[in-house]
Amino acid sequence: MTQSLTLPRPDDMHLHLRDGAMLQGILPETARDFARAIIMPNLVPPVVTAADAIAYRDRILAALPEGMAFEPLMTLYLTEATDPADVAAAHASGLVKAVKLYPAGATTNSHSGVSNFDKVRGVLEKMAEIGLPLCMHGEVTTPSVDIFDREAVFIDTVLDPIRRATPGLRVVMEHITTKQGVDYARAGGDDLAATITTHHLIINRNHILVGGIKPHYYCLPVAKREEHRLALRAAATSGEARFFLGTDSAPHIDALKEHACGCAGCFTATNTMPLLAHVFEEDGALEKLEAFASRNGAAFYRLPVNDAQLTLVKSATPTEWPEKIETGAGPVTVFDPGYPVFWRVQD
Ligand code: DOR
Ligand code: ZN
Repeated sequence: MTQSLTLPRPDDMHLHLRDGAMLQGILPETARDFARAIIMPNLVPPVVTAADAIAYRDRILAALPEGMAFEPLMTLYLTEATDPADVAAAHASGLVKAVKLYPAGATTNSHSGVSNFDKVRGVLEKMAEIGLPLCMHGEVTTPSVDIFDREAVFIDTVLDPIRRATPGLRVVMEHITTKQGVDYARAGGDDLAATITTHHLIINRNHILVGGIKPHYYCLPVAKREEHRLALRAAATSGEARFFLGTDSAPHIDALKEHACGCAGCFTATNTMPLLAHVFEEDGALEKLEAFASRNGAAFYRLPVNDAQLTLVKSATPTEWPEKIETGAGPVTVFDPGYPVFWRVQD
């Protein structure tokens, strides 16, 4: 039985770091294990321009504890007013690695997102021309569409038409949660990829709802039926280049999660690598974890694989991590897989 696994230091290709006291409190949780992360721009107000991204990157670096190495890979939040020339300049300077599309109203802080996709045509065409990836939150917001169907409907009615209309556009289907997402990603060429979160490999919708509502398992896209979780597990553990880790670790203080109208987001930064080792080992695919967490994302974003390494070790006693991370903004509950995990990151 393998007791230890050494990988190139992993990258988290979808991460929410927030700002201010929350950023300060949770950044070490990611920087401890990850070399780089694609940083989501859904702040209030959002990170829309290159100037916003420079200022946010500087705040992230200022919050990084002494002695920790971490590179934030910045993104811009696509609005109907986004200027293609600003996006192109931000890409050319090396500052921005992707543009994020939130359908207006789809999730946390998405009200500045896109309602009329015709209005972003010029930006998408420019992105296709320069090879800058579009990260998509793939859910429709149509009130009549059931929340469990919103990803599948998005693929058919938004994603596929955009890709057909914009040849060469490089797209990341973010945090896929369905078999339809896996199948669509597999049918694309090398201009299409998909991120998969840690928590969607572990929970299905029963975990949220059976035996009492579990607000810390609620995120968007919401976890689906078991058959979908199994499709995600098969995709993640396949080693296929199009699938890679994007945790979507999304901290909210407990007071806003444990609430009559609780926020969406699972906070997995603290324990993602031990959880993934558990999941991949359970599926007999421990040797594929390196592709999923350290290689495939870097390749899609045309970045070198990290030189530094991370070692995971398996012990006879369960790994302990804090139940909550205490931040200056308030406590944030760490994702609980609901079973003991024996893997840990070696100090
Ligand atoms: O669960 C989620 N939380 N999904 C998202 O798309 C946004 C994120 C957040 O920012 O809290
Ligand atoms: Zn997200």
